Amino acid sequence: MKAVKIREDFYWVGAIDWNVRNFHGYATVRGTTYNAYLLIDEKITLFDTVKLGFEEELLKRISSVINPEKIDYLVINHIEPDHAGAFLRVVQAIKPEKIFLTRNARLGILAHFHQENFPFEEVKTGFEVKIGKRTLKFIETPMIHWPDSMMTYIPEERTLISQDAFGAHYATSGRFDDEVDLCELLQEAGKYYANIVYPYSPQVQKLLQSVKEMNLEIEMICPDHGVVWRKNPDKIISLYERWSSYICDPRVLVIYDTMWKSTEKMAYAVMEGALEEGVEVKMCKLSVADWTELMNDVLEARGIVLGSPTLNNGLLPTVSGFLTYMKGLRPRGKVGAAFGSYGWSGESVKLLNQYLQEIQAEIIGEGIRVKYVPDEKVLADCVELGRKVARRVKELCSA
Ligand code: FEO
Repeated sequence: MKAVKIREDFYWVGAIDWNVRNFHGYATVRGTTYNAYLLIDEKITLFDTVKLGFEEELLKRISSVINPEKIDYLVINHIEPDHAGAFLRVVQAIKPEKIFLTRNARLGILAHFHQENFPFEEVKTGFEVKIGKRTLKFIETPMIHWPDSMMTYIPEERTLISQDAFGAHYATSGRFDDEVDLCELLQEAGKYYANIVYPYSPQVQKLLQSVKEMNLEIEMICPDHGVVWRKNPDKIISLYERWSSYICDPRVLVIYDTMWKSTEKMAYAVMEGALEEGVEVKMCKLSVADWTELMNDVLEARGIVLGSPTLNNGLLPTVSGFLTYMKGLRPRGKVGAAFGSYGWSGESVKLLNQYLQEIQAEIIGEGIRVKYVPDEKVLADCVELGRKVARRVKELCSA
């Protein structure tokens, strides 16, 4: 296993996890990578480590360039175990002179590994370290993705080592954005944003503002997952601008599940109404939908119409499970509505509206409830609901 040269004296030395399919609930259908980077200068520096179990791969790749014991500095940009799981083993192997990390990262590393005596050096935004020809400039990015997170900018390389941000769960033999299928990469980058970064969109906005204020020239972005952005760094930055501003397409998702097809009939009537208004519609039946994929659709769609029958005074578990997941990812700027059938108690529409309130959606109408099976009048109401949602979606998207 060899290092991959990124630039002169600058290498990718991470690990490729081709077969991971579940990353704490995220369906990683294309696997992932745990990226680490090696910069050879007067002070040889390693940026991040890898998930525990991949440390031999990391050390072999480093060994293809230098003896790992020659590494002087270790930079820990993020302590989540997919990057710092192998921290202890790597530190024991390389014996660094200094370990640069934020205060929260030091506290987190101590809480994970209980090693007080390592040569930690806490850094803050603006802290700079000269390593020879190059400089390391640290930028704290709390909550992108954890409280400990930071990025490292190397001005002489015009390169940002961005840990989780700008990443993708995407295992490929290509290490650069120009060596892989761009459509596939952007799809994975969107899914990654929707399922990992979305709740921290305000922090992403702040980061993008800081990058502008600090006049950082960015020719290359090296994230901790996926590929290095050397051809299209502007593309992923502009997508982060879009996603973190909650800009959406004039599209309506009908997210629902059904017991005896009454709610499904209503869902298709809502779809008909939205289609009449000329917007794109996607039907998402939660008994068969993949949550990870569906969050990517939520990220991009302005309209979200929710449907569930009432089961045991509540929602179908497939619906409540997904809505709990979605709520935690804090989508914003949506237009919503609710519908559902019931047999006797009929709480589902009220509960669906509560979820819509919790994500601060603009709710159209009170929702449509029907006892047992919708008749033509109810289905016509559902068509009208679809029209109203679509009209509001178009208005907001053209504003
Ligand atoms: Fe890739 Fe937040 O770890």
